[in-house]
Amino acid sequence: MSAAGAVGAVPAPSGRPVAAERLPLRPELVGVQPYGAPQLDVAVRLNVNENPYPPPPEVVSDVARSVAEAAAVLNRYPDREASQLRTALADYLGHGLGPEQVWAANGSNEVMLQVLQAFGGPGRTALSFTPTYSMYAEYARTTSTEWVVGQRRSDFGIDVEAARRLVHEHRPSVVLLASPNNPTGTALPLATVRALLEATRSAGGGVVVVDEAYAEFRRAGTPSALQLLGGEQRLLVTRTMSKAFAAAGVRLGYVATAPEVVDALRVVRLPYHLSAVTQAAATALLAHADTLLARVDDLRAERDRLAGWLVGLGLPVAESDANFCLFGGLPDRHAAWQGLLDRGVLVRETGPDGWLRVSVGTPAEMAAFRTALTGVLAAGSPGTRSDQTDRPDQTDPSVPLPAGLEAT
Ligand SMILES: Cc1ncc(COP(=O)(O)O)c(C=O)c1O
Repeated sequence: MSAAGAVGAVPAPSGRPVAAERLPLRPELVGVQPYGAPQLDVAVRLNVNENPYPPPPEVVSDVARSVAEAAAVLNRYPDREASQLRTALADYLGHGLGPEQVWAANGSNEVMLQVLQAFGGPGRTALSFTPTYSMYAEYARTTSTEWVVGQRRSDFGIDVEAARRLVHEHRPSVVLLASPNNPTGTALPLATVRALLEATRSAGGGVVVVDEAYAEFRRAGTPSALQLLGGEQRLLVTRTMSKAFAAAGVRLGYVATAPEVVDALRVVRLPYHLSAVTQAAATALLAHADTLLARVDDLRAERDRLAGWLVGLGLPVAESDANFCLFGGLPDRHAAWQGLLDRGVLVRETGPDGWLRVSVGTPAEMAAFRTALTGVLAAGSPGTRSDQTDRPDQTDPSVPLPAGLEAT
């Protein structure tokens, strides 16, 4: 059953922002819509960067066995330290990490919220660089942390000098860097991470979070910030099992960092925050890392094929080290998004205006996407161009359609 179908008879969210008249809502929450992509019952869903391959049957059996063992003692609270799971996560990450350097929570979203709870708060500032993962601003808002954003360059990298200046101006206690970034797919060079670590150190000593939710999808030669962890007390590298491990439903994220940082996160976590069922499922999945990650190679190859195909259409495409591609050249991106949906393909309307993000699916899903996008572009509604920075009037008849997409 699809996620949308699974909602069943429960009424859909009203879509109305919470009003303040009858509830003592915090003023900064008035009128705010809850985060979340539409969960629509569509044949081809390429909108939330899920792994399209469910775990294979032998993995499902092991997870079920492990969860059944946990179920036999559900009268007890779970291991508060999630020791077995953290040991397995440290082993998976390698780099000489031990369980005392790893902390886990319900998705990397919860890990990062805990980071803001521990290191942000009133009178403190968090800094990131847009376009980036939109939940960062929500962690800041929820923890009453001042939120400052710099702009990424037109290639979606970070200008180190401009970033240094922002750090010195705002003295953030938390810097959030997604690498590979969502929604652009851009990975950061380690030199950029080093420069921001150095800048935060000299500006008074914030922590730097490198959010590597998509790390397993990076291209050969793209490094991980895990390499910088040795002796770095203020670096946190977050990961998730939601993407490469095909386990978005488990809700398991984790961070590799210094033991002192883990101690700080322990102070803000809720008691027994990670259920015995979650720990059992995640530990069982990790035992099958090789099997699950084998699919990642297929997805990386499919991603490169997708990017090449989009480039072949003459559309601007962000370099991607993730399991999705951000592509532009769409003067009316909402019309393009709707056109794709009308053809049974759901993508994400996110990123700079004129761009859409498409997750990498199975070869059949990608074929459906290609057919749908070809249809949308040929129908002419959104039009296309390969240069977003200097976009002429879309009604200009001198602007050619990309090769092969002349309106029919
Ligand atoms: C950049 C980035 N970080 C973190 C997350 C959160 O992942 P999860 O909470 O499922 O671990 C996502 C989810 O899409 C993401 O795109």
